[in-house]
Amino acid sequence: MSDVPLHRMYRHFSELPYSLRVLYTAALIVLGLGYLFALIYLFHVYSAKDGNPLTLSYQDIVIAYTGSGKASRLESALRGPMRAMLPAEQIDTIVSWVQEGADPAGYENKIKAIVDQRCLSCHDGSNPHLVNLKGYDNIQKVVERDTGTGIFTLVRVSHIHLFGLTFVFFLMGTIFSHAYVRPVWLKCAAVALPFVSLVLDVSSWYFTKLYHPFAWVVMLSGAVMGASFAFMWAVSMYQLWFSATPAVVEKRTAGGGVG
Ligand code: HEC
Repeated sequence: MSDVPLHRMYRHFSELPYSLRVLYTAALIVLGLGYLFALIYLFHVYSAKDGNPLTLSYQDIVIAYTGSGKASRLESALRGPMRAMLPAEQIDTIVSWVQEGADPAGYENKIKAIVDQRCLSCHDGSNPHLVNLKGYDNIQKVVERDTGTGIFTLVRVSHIHLFGLTFVFFLMGTIFSHAYVRPVWLKCAAVALPFVSLVLDVSSWYFTKLYHPFAWVVMLSGAVMGASFAFMWAVSMYQLWFSATPAVVEKRTAGGGVG
């Protein structure tokens, strides 16, 4: 397998005109920078979700896609710093209303009176640093649970990823196709794997919502994508400028005189 003859349409980097080699080099450098910034961004957005900002962990991914499972801000405040503002049975009334879905009718019947009496002296919206608790709509905002990235956001990010990364890896694969790599299956795998990973990655965002261990697929496919990128980048750059022309290519050039 490792001495398959050269395809008649195959051109090694060293057979390409300088203008193309310069174009490929420039594209590789900017793509590499882009990938680096993407990694910084990814790390910045996700790594601190589990409370430890130093590593990007399984837990970070699970929290990002499914939510922290923590109580709403209102419940945490009532169990925590705002505990002293009202009697315990009123806390229970509010918390069970929240847990039962925080419906508007319940708000009018039992919650509004408590909030108006106990909370609005500070939370009536006049202090821009305190959450506004006046009216059902404002309460609604602190009642929401953290359920992770919403489906619509995922749909938006999915289409950006699918289109954007297809361009990135199409360019990368086209450049890399001029490298001399044997066995041929390895070369083909390096070209194909990012696309497989991309589809696995994006679909696993949704699956993680349903079944947490899919976060491993998200991490694994991200790693495979990054590894393929690094491999194709390094091999292309090396063969563009630093390595000697492979012997098989040299032989063909000498015989046929292709420029
Ligand atoms: C005496 C003034 C005062 C009263 C009365 C008061 N709060 Fe607060 N509340 C504060 C202050 C100050 C903060 C900001 C403190 C902080 O961020 O730790 C705050 C923060 C909050 C927060 C935001 C917590 C977060 O996630 O950042 C919520 C929710 C809240 N209060 C709910 C209530 C509720 C419900 C009541 C009535 C039962 C109430 N508060 C009564 C002063 C008050």
